[in-house]
Amino acid sequence: MSNVILVGYMGCGKSTVGKRLSYRMKMPYTDTDKEIEKKQGTTISLIFKEQGETAFRDMETECLKRLFEYKQDYVIAVGGGLPMREENRSLMRKLGTTVYLRAKPETIYERLKDDTTRPLLQGENPQEKIRSMINQRSPFYEEAADVVIDVDGKSFDEIMDEIEEAVSK
Ligand code: S3P
Repeated sequence: MSNVILVGYMGCGKSTVGKRLSYRMKMPYTDTDKEIEKKQGTTISLIFKEQGETAFRDMETECLKRLFEYKQDYVIAVGGGLPMREENRSLMRKLGTTVYLRAKPETIYERLKDDTTRPLLQGENPQEKIRSMINQRSPFYEEAADVVIDVDGKSFDEIMDEIEEAVSK
């Protein structure tokens, strides 16, 4: 399969880049968070609150498995925590090429400081939380990725040019 899968921390631009890239590459777009919300008929915030994070993580794995049934290749943005599971990294390897959109904690904080839709960032001191989660997660993003793109200070067009060049090799 030749899906293009975008991974990276919350706020790194996966869905914005993914939607634009899908248009450019003439491939449909999907997003694991949106697929899960649609299937569950509720929001990510409520899933975390009412069913807990482990239930959500199981839904992510199920969602990845369903992507194998799609008849076409997609541009797929996956939730920021999805690549932490080894099973998910192995599923992504079979699904296609994985691109890690790597952003600095400062860039993420600037983008997400007023966001209320990410349950994991709602507590005290989001700046520190972002920094420590990125430190902890980046080895897994790197392990999952076939391509790493640094996004800080770049326009969406620049990021897409780099992705297109890398995935067409
Ligand atoms: C999460 C990232 C979110 C969403 C959920 C948990 C995470 O997706 O799946 O809030 O653990 O990083 P985005 O990366 O699309 O924000």
